[in-house]
Amino acid sequence: MAGPFDQLVGQLPSQISPEEIKDALVIPGLIDLHTHFPQTDMIASYGEQLLDWLANYTFPTELAFADAAHSREVARAFTDELIRHGTTTALVFGTVHAEAVDHLFSEAAAINMRMIAGKVLMDRNAPEGLLDGADYGEAACRHLIEKWHGYQRLSYALTPRFAPTSSPDQLAMTGRLLAETPSLYLQTHMSENPSEIAWVTSLFPECEGYLDTYDTFNLVGSRSVFAHCIHLTDRERTRLADAGSSIAFCPTSNLFLGSGLFDYEKCKQANLSIGLGTDIGAGTSFSLLSTMGEAYKVGQLRGAPLPPCEAFYMATLGGAKALSLDHAIGTLAPGTEADLVVLDMKATSLIGRRMANAPRLEDRLFALAILGDDRAIARTYIDGRRVK
Ligand code: GUN
Ligand code: ZN
Repeated sequence: MAGPFDQLVGQLPSQISPEEIKDALVIPGLIDLHTHFPQTDMIASYGEQLLDWLANYTFPTELAFADAAHSREVARAFTDELIRHGTTTALVFGTVHAEAVDHLFSEAAAINMRMIAGKVLMDRNAPEGLLDGADYGEAACRHLIEKWHGYQRLSYALTPRFAPTSSPDQLAMTGRLLAETPSLYLQTHMSENPSEIAWVTSLFPECEGYLDTYDTFNLVGSRSVFAHCIHLTDRERTRLADAGSSIAFCPTSNLFLGSGLFDYEKCKQANLSIGLGTDIGAGTSFSLLSTMGEAYKVGQLRGAPLPPCEAFYMATLGGAKALSLDHAIGTLAPGTEADLVVLDMKATSLIGRRMANAPRLEDRLFALAILGDDRAIARTYIDGRRVK
């Protein structure tokens, strides 16, 4: 049920006692369209751009997930952080280790959280301990799909890390799995950094650009989410829109790694589906409010400040549409799942002072995006149950 208090209060079943929440906004639970659970403990690692950052920080960090006790502990800490920050659905990268994804799904299942995740697929250009074996990771994917895809509110995403770390044979295997089970998701990275793009060109000389390395293997569809997409060509934008694919805009990560400024306006004009991602741990915050604030600043540097309602849309219904889940989440419409967040308009004294000067809803939302973080998340509800 949803609607004005005065109309609803008379219709409530007798076992439900209404609660009054003052100085607050109730919105749909936030949706993080791109993040990495194993990178929780390496957030804020200094000084490198993408390829060196991967080699020097990310791969060593992910190697440690061969240890089940470590992986289980980080999966719990990561899930706790999501809830604390009002994120009720996330599309998540694991590591190459199938067990690590088991741990993450187990944490989500324990609170009936809606989560989509996958084991990373890599079979070249990474340390030996992070590479899939002779079957390109197929058996591990099949096992995880069987166990988790469609269990409770969980779904599986095929997760080739990015074109440079998968052989053409591994990408082909991924395309076959996707064709076999069309309800699976596909998540990967694309066009984040100029050196990365040059590397892709040299590794796939027969392809017509970065997107084509995925398109060649039938990985570009309506359930595909591409993180970053900063340096796309017009042709790539058109192709992504035609395929119904989505982009995860990850501003804190893009600024942190010095990757570039996402062209939101061009992507919007191309009719692309866009959501927001924190991209932990290149991203610098679990908070989608802070992420909205950084998205606004990226827009400023491009001469096109992001309107606050569009920022909140990307983190709710826009993210839900990117995941083909807008019938269930990202909205307060009656009949949808009760993933909710209560935003405290007086979370800090400064936010309270600003709100006293912000009569319009747009101004209030904007102040929350610029000043808000986990402190502004008064409550998080997952499937109707309060978890924060
Ligand atoms: N490209 C390939 N792997 C990664 C990763 O882990 N993080 C980011 N930001 N980009 C990537
Ligand atoms: Zn990422």
